Amino acid sequence: MTKIGIIGAGAIASVHIDSYKHFPGHAKVSAVCDTFRQKADGLIAEKALDATGYDDYEKLLADPDIDAVSICLPPNMHCSVAVRALKMGKHVLVEKPMASSLEECDRMIEASRASGKILSVVSQNRFKTPVARVKNMLDNGDLGRVVYANFESLWWRGQIYYDLWWRGTWEQESGGCFMSHAVHYLDLMHMLFGMPKRVQSVMSNVGHENSECEDLGFAVFDYGDKLVQFTCSLVSHGERQGIAIEGEKGSISIPWAVSASRALPNGFPEEDTAQREKLEQTYHSIPELPLEGHDAQISNFLKAIRNEEPVVIDGAEGKKTLELVMGIYKSSVSGTSIAFPVATDDAFYRKETMVAAMPKFHEKKKSVDNFSTSKITLGRNMGR
Ligand SMILES: NC(=O)c1ccc[n+]([C@@H]2O[C@H](COP(=O)([O-])OP(=O)(O)OC[C@H]3O[C@@H](n4cnc5c(N)ncnc54)[C@H](O)[C@@H]3O)[C@@H](O)[C@H]2O)c1
Repeated sequence: MTKIGIIGAGAIASVHIDSYKHFPGHAKVSAVCDTFRQKADGLIAEKALDATGYDDYEKLLADPDIDAVSICLPPNMHCSVAVRALKMGKHVLVEKPMASSLEECDRMIEASRASGKILSVVSQNRFKTPVARVKNMLDNGDLGRVVYANFESLWWRGQIYYDLWWRGTWEQESGGCFMSHAVHYLDLMHMLFGMPKRVQSVMSNVGHENSECEDLGFAVFDYGDKLVQFTCSLVSHGERQGIAIEGEKGSISIPWAVSASRALPNGFPEEDTAQREKLEQTYHSIPELPLEGHDAQISNFLKAIRNEEPVVIDGAEGKKTLELVMGIYKSSVSGTSIAFPVATDDAFYRKETMVAAMPKFHEKKKSVDNFSTSKITLGRNMGR
């Protein structure tokens, strides 16, 4: 039985607790910590946990019975708490974004290596049936060579969203919609296609006056053999998110859509019905995942702790997403195309120099400790 400590008892902590509760024979949430002790105690009561409440994560980490922790804290605390937990011999599952900077990611990866404990970064959308099916089709070469893809990381947040104390600041949230929302889609981009060669981007804040950071941005990733267009928004009513992939042998999308064209003798298109039906059949023949989202990722985390399977999203994998965000930020500030990887002596490798380089779109003037509700939505369920 793996004994779990939850650090940070805010909105996403409930999702972690519910997922651990799906594996009663393998995991037990034994401790919950929040600086607002009443939030920790409230979650323990609400979820009917046999657990200890803490207001100081050091006390939770000092408990030798705790084997692993879920870090559900604001982004700028992910690195320091993860490194401390790993040094105390705990396995770590950390919420996205992995950290505030690439240098912090490297410190977390090193702490995991030195302790021999697992470090995993939440990216629950990899564990969705439509994503797994599309990945399977790309790996099988069902589309032939992929030449172009379009990612739409389209979200909507009201002005008040940024009144929460840690949001909308380069220092604490560590970025805007690219850092906090598009990370889900940037993770899927490098999972599906690997890392690009270069990025060119532009960004702005068009709708959130209580945030220093971006709420709208566009990036184009150059892979050499294909281009990927990426839109990141927090001003899109209806949150019409999705991914469209164009290959030589057809076009497929999440949410699922498929089409295939062939050329008339003059090069104009007509529908290739047989090819479209073949792709349709292939997609539906790939089995549904038995578990999805946080449930699936937490299942993988627990199995990796028991040495039953490798961890799917380790520190190195989580760092790639941060690398894409830093490339985007550097390109938008410099107005130039940026090559990957971001070097360790680059200003965008370290938090302080990155923050100093970024524009403050607005001054954050309003701040609240907590909202009256911790209910959140987790975005589109990847095509369902
Ligand atoms: N995977 C997803 O889809 C998803 C969705 C929402 C949030 N998140 C991520 O989860 C993390 C937390 O987000 P949230 O929405 O739950 O935020 P939140 O503000 O609701 O919760 C964070 C909690 O941490 C507590 N806290 C702050 N400093 C602390 C400290 N030093 N010790 C103990 N507790 C402390 C706060 O009091 C708060 O209750 C963020 O990194 C966010 O990006 C992920």
